[in-house]
Amino acid sequence: MLKVTNLTKIFGGLKAVDGASLEVGQGRIVALIGPNGAGKTTLFACIAGFLPINQGRVELLGQDITGMKVHDIARLGMVRTFQITQPFAKLTVLENIAVGSHQLHARRADALAHARTVAERVGMPAAMLDQPAAELTVAGRKRLELARALATEPKLLLLDEVMAGLNPQEIVEIIGIIRKIRDGGVTILLIEHVMHAVMSLSEHIYVLSYGKIIAQGAPKDIVNNRDVVEAYLGRGAAEQMAAAEGQHA
Ligand SMILES: Nc1ncnc2c1ncn2[C@@H]1O[C@H](COP(=O)(O)OP(=O)(O)OP(=O)(O)O)[C@@H](O)[C@H]1O
Ligand SMILES: [Mg+2]
Repeated sequence: MLKVTNLTKIFGGLKAVDGASLEVGQGRIVALIGPNGAGKTTLFACIAGFLPINQGRVELLGQDITGMKVHDIARLGMVRTFQITQPFAKLTVLENIAVGSHQLHARRADALAHARTVAERVGMPAAMLDQPAAELTVAGRKRLELARALATEPKLLLLDEVMAGLNPQEIVEIIGIIRKIRDGGVTILLIEHVMHAVMSLSEHIYVLSYGKIIAQGAPKDIVNNRDVVEAYLGRGAAEQMAAAEGQHA
């Protein structure tokens, strides 16, 4: 579905993404994790055409899309959500979702009808739909962000921290919704800091640190990976943790 090869993105003197490669197979849920500032959002922006890249190649469904425009990439079936949600504040929730629906439904009435079905898919209560987007809670805004992306009927959805700021109950709900979206045929690549959600949802995990993919594998391998532990907790952390575990044993 998606193949990223040796992608590099430089901001001034900073290599925000440094030769990163990853693959997402059709129908999978794959996670991209890593410490704050590792370059995850930048990598998403590069993949989805929001930022020009310095080096590398992006393929979607076997087609080279490197350097293509956001809208053309979306038309081919890949869209992203934003870590910092930015709905049209004065439009209602439903109208916001319909912005995405307009790609496939030229008539306003059709777009709004489609938006309603999308709202249902992300578990939005009907009462929420006529509210101005500005009045939504954090959880509501995250749902809306997801719905707006889904409304373009993507084949591949890039989710950037859709669980940030949610309470445990809301996280449980959104995990179920993401799984349902995938079961409906949408491939998913997600950035997430909520680790139990990453572990329960994803089939494969890539770990980014200082712009480089430092590890990849099944969830159970990643939690025990020493490079990963150190990337999150600092150098020597893996030894300290192993030693601490030894003392408890
Ligand atoms: N537009 C930009 N111009 C310059 N530097 C940037 C820009 N966007 C991001 N950066 C820098 O690139 C690095 C990677 O940032 P990025 O937002 O991709 O990290 P992240 O892994 O998504 O972090 P977080 O988990 O906090 O969201 C950071 O050092 C950041 O300050
Ligand atoms: Mg980010």
